[in-house]
Amino acid sequence: MKYFKDSIIENKKVILRCDLNVTIKDNVILDDTKIIKSLDTINYLLNNNNSIIILSHLGKVKTEEDKIKNTLYPVYLKLKELINTNIYFSEYTSGEELKTLSNKLKEKEILLVENTRHEDLIDKKESKCNDELSKYWASLGEVFINDAFGTSHRCHASNYGIKKYLPTYYGSLINEEKNKLDELINNPEKPFLVVMGGAKVEDKLMLISELLPICDNLIVGGGIANTFIHALGYNVGKSLLSLENVDEIKELINKYKEKIIIPIDFYVSYNDSKEYRNLDELKDEDIIFDIGEKTIEKYSEIINNSNTVFINGTVGLYENKDYEYGTKTLLEKLSNSNAKVFVGGGDAVTATNKLGFNNTFYYKSTGGGATLEYIINKNMSALED
Ligand code: 3PG
Repeated sequence: MKYFKDSIIENKKVILRCDLNVTIKDNVILDDTKIIKSLDTINYLLNNNNSIIILSHLGKVKTEEDKIKNTLYPVYLKLKELINTNIYFSEYTSGEELKTLSNKLKEKEILLVENTRHEDLIDKKESKCNDELSKYWASLGEVFINDAFGTSHRCHASNYGIKKYLPTYYGSLINEEKNKLDELINNPEKPFLVVMGGAKVEDKLMLISELLPICDNLIVGGGIANTFIHALGYNVGKSLLSLENVDEIKELINKYKEKIIIPIDFYVSYNDSKEYRNLDELKDEDIIFDIGEKTIEKYSEIINNSNTVFINGTVGLYENKDYEYGTKTLLEKLSNSNAKVFVGGGDAVTATNKLGFNNTFYYKSTGGGATLEYIINKNMSALED
């Protein structure tokens, strides 16, 4: 698929698929990063006298209630603040009404269409890539540009199905994601450290296996560390554990023993009270929720000796103030280091924003699952021709 700036796209009606899936609470957008990062493609298209029909999903839509809750209207208001042109909102996601609105659209005007997943209420048309719906959306324009990196690992009608019917390109946001992630995978300045956190080890094993051969060190934390700790013969008490992955993890530990580094102390919940433990002191009743000071000290040394860091997931239950220490301190160490830090995966990015590390890293990906899939497969279906 070609980058849209490498072709001449002028005076066209462009269907632009963005990832405007932002967190909204009480009609307030909590993090507008994805909207801001979508502006380059939008403004470039406007400057070339195109009109734009923007499609995006927002959350999941399974019930009528979800439909009301997951509306792009607050995003529409934000776009009106940010872009100096006529912007319209279509509450319809298909049918004659949307067709009429798109037909009326003039040069340099924008129509934001309501959440594409509203179409999921009947037969999951968007998520199951319904061909009729793909064809309908394609019929609204002359050119399709996919700029929704965060959803490019999904084959949905609005980002994948539509490609069959229109000349297709990718936008600036995806271009930046590709460039930065390719730099990380193909050319990391060594020593290269991977910090892998998050809850479930089964979600991260493919990524870990892909990164271990190219990194110099792998630090683990969060729920996924528990299975590593268990595989090494330590008690993890009642902590989250994935027994079915233990053998695979043992193999990785044997193969990459010099690279894999596990936590050595923790904060645990013991009968509902917070307690401190060293690695060999964990009790049967313990639930590990955070890493401790000695682990931070050990991890800081490795961070300071690294030139590239990729962080995915968080190393503790940072959402709970009692257990935010590890994630917060680690992010602080990373933001003070001289390494190029790439933050990938939804949770790690959310934590950086929530804990006050908004602009301190070399690169923050807008993708969660998409970033992982790109690193594992080096491409994604919605980016292929
Ligand atoms: C994201 O936030 O990771 C993307 O918008 C994809 O969302 P999805 O997981 O609901 O498809």
